[in-house]
Amino acid sequence: MTSNMAPRGRSGQPAGALTRPQGLARPVDVSGLVDAAGGLLDRIIFTDPQIYQQELRRVFAPSWLFLAHTDQFKKPGDFFTTYMGEDAVIVTMDRTRTIRAFLNSCRHRGARVCRADFGTTRNFTCTYHGWSYDLDGALISVPNRTGYPDGFDTADWGLVEVAQLDTYRGLIFGTWNPQAPPLREALGAMTWYMDALLDHDDEGTEVVAGVQKWVLEGNWKLAAEQFATDWYHVNMSHASALMVLTPAGKRPKDEIVHRTGRQYVDPKGHGAGFPVHPKNRFDAQPVHEWTDYPALHERLGAARVQGPLTNGHATVFPNFSYLPVVGSLRIWHPKGPDRMEVWAWTIVDKSWPEEVKEAQRLYNLRTFGPSGIFEQDDGENWSEVQAIAHGFVTNRVALNYQMGLGSEREDGRHPGTTSELYSDAAGRAFYGRWQQLMNTPAWHEEQT
Ligand code: FES
Ligand code: FE
Repeated sequence: MTSNMAPRGRSGQPAGALTRPQGLARPVDVSGLVDAAGGLLDRIIFTDPQIYQQELRRVFAPSWLFLAHTDQFKKPGDFFTTYMGEDAVIVTMDRTRTIRAFLNSCRHRGARVCRADFGTTRNFTCTYHGWSYDLDGALISVPNRTGYPDGFDTADWGLVEVAQLDTYRGLIFGTWNPQAPPLREALGAMTWYMDALLDHDDEGTEVVAGVQKWVLEGNWKLAAEQFATDWYHVNMSHASALMVLTPAGKRPKDEIVHRTGRQYVDPKGHGAGFPVHPKNRFDAQPVHEWTDYPALHERLGAARVQGPLTNGHATVFPNFSYLPVVGSLRIWHPKGPDRMEVWAWTIVDKSWPEEVKEAQRLYNLRTFGPSGIFEQDDGENWSEVQAIAHGFVTNRVALNYQMGLGSEREDGRHPGTTSELYSDAAGRAFYGRWQQLMNTPAWHEEQT
């Protein structure tokens, strides 16, 4: 760790002359833990504390991470607190109506300067000793200011600002990495799939107020991976839920098994899977009655309407996922190797009438809310995998990601590389990207 990782305030000035010894963050070579080409995974990557710490440094710190929706910031002082990896951050709209993000940690003794989940404020005042920060992160008030030496300059002690912030169709992403490529470049062809959720019309999307949060005893990658690559679990894991949702007179499997589809496989670790059907619709939802399918065909094209528009799953590397059918956005916040905190939004089209938005909110809650009929199945699986993963022998037995090996190709209909609907291809790409980042020194590790 070198001086260019030293915390910098909004002024950009290093805030001290401390230097960390190198040994505190000695990297682990993960080359032998992931065989992306052969589809094998060493499950120590779900349990080892040293690997987890390296993820925070080399996967989360350098990557673009989802923070919030622009709809959450309507006037100066509106704020939302979240995490980037395990770093607490505040996202806020400053007095010039610019959305900015700061480390939510006081420069004095490190307490959070904002303890609320969201709200509106004039400034952020730390409740420990009273240092106060403006909406642009500047330190504006220090109790007993005269007690500090002459060289103490408040301009050096503003909140640490997230290096880059950008939006994609209402989704705000940030990265600590000043050298990260632009967000659009990082998303690449994934935007084509994301637009099936975000670009139904010119008015765009908004979020239903409030974020649902719950804790699961499982490694964050188990969830992110599943949303990138795993349609395979649906029939087995969700059998009872599918039975509830299946119209009378039909067998549940008729609805799922006999549908074909594709899986998007992105070398940057993103992934999405979706059935493809010529009559793809928002079945069994009030949204269906409201949807102008010919207009969507015109705007998004047949491939997207028949594919990722209504159904399927997706992950934007590393830990942002979504489900188009219910408008669920979610982050899998890492909380140590054995725990994740799920944060979930409901996203709706601004143009929908209030009753349709409300119906979509309820539909999302019943299916993929914390007690939703599908969500509970998924959480149970991840906790089950994690519960035994620390066993000495268990932890040494490799996991299988070989479904669809060699199936990746350009299909001529969907951008980028795709595989079969039932495939581990996007999972292999997810872990391949994870391995690449874990074995690459991040910008903050460069010598100065
Ligand atoms: Fe914030 Fe002391 S920790 S003022
Ligand atoms: Fe599921």
